[in-house]
Amino acid sequence: MRSKLVAGNWKMNGIKASLVEVEAIAAACRSNSDVDVALFVPATLIADAVSVAGVMMIGGQDCHANDCGAHTGNIAAPMLVEAGARLVIVGHSERRADQGETDVEVKAKAEAARRHGLGVILCVGETLDERGKDQAEQVVSAQIARSLPDGADGEWLSIAYEPVWAIGTGRTPTETEVAAVHGAIRAQIGGLLGGDAAASLRILYGGSVNGANAASLLACADVDGALVGGASLTARDFVPIIEAAASQQQILP
Ligand code: PGA
Repeated sequence: MRSKLVAGNWKMNGIKASLVEVEAIAAACRSNSDVDVALFVPATLIADAVSVAGVMMIGGQDCHANDCGAHTGNIAAPMLVEAGARLVIVGHSERRADQGETDVEVKAKAEAARRHGLGVILCVGETLDERGKDQAEQVVSAQIARSLPDGADGEWLSIAYEPVWAIGTGRTPTETEVAAVHGAIRAQIGGLLGGDAAASLRILYGGSVNGANAASLLACADVDGALVGGASLTARDFVPIIEAAASQQQILP
């Protein structure tokens, strides 16, 4: 059975003073050890966060497809590994929008991460316009078809379904809509990679997850965790989400 993964994405937030929050979140992980927790901090904080993270995994928010080279301002997978990261997010919609990242680039980034032993969270999701045209499943399916890394399997890859219109807006899809997209993703993975991969791959929901809605979102069919932005910045907001996941973990068969 898949255990839940609760991931916090700090985006461009966090300086050394924020390490007290990392420590407080790490303390909550010790008492909720059935749940996997990962925190994606800015690259400048990875090494310091690792030193206080305990069992919690620390990750990077992006990596380049190349291992080194003339790419000013970018970060490569071996650099993340050296800093102590165990995972990386690729294809977040903010990078797709701000940096113009394509599915082909996202695939190459995921493969670079894997070459260096990093776990990967691959983000997909439709815009409001696409949701309005009832194209969510179609858009997500096309993103996965183009960006699924070669050799993917559920041991190191997770997929995060993050509707662009739900990120940072306080809006979420209905539980029925979440379950429909997650079910479609799992069926697609089954078709592309086979039943074992589909059974082991975790599919996270992301977009305005908070302490009040986490339990119902995490209870949806085929939801194996959450990718949380704003509500992951403080222990006060993030720990209730970890606890919501833990209480569901305990009722698994
Ligand atoms: P949010 O962000 O929780 O602030 O909506 C989620 C994300 O972008 O991963």
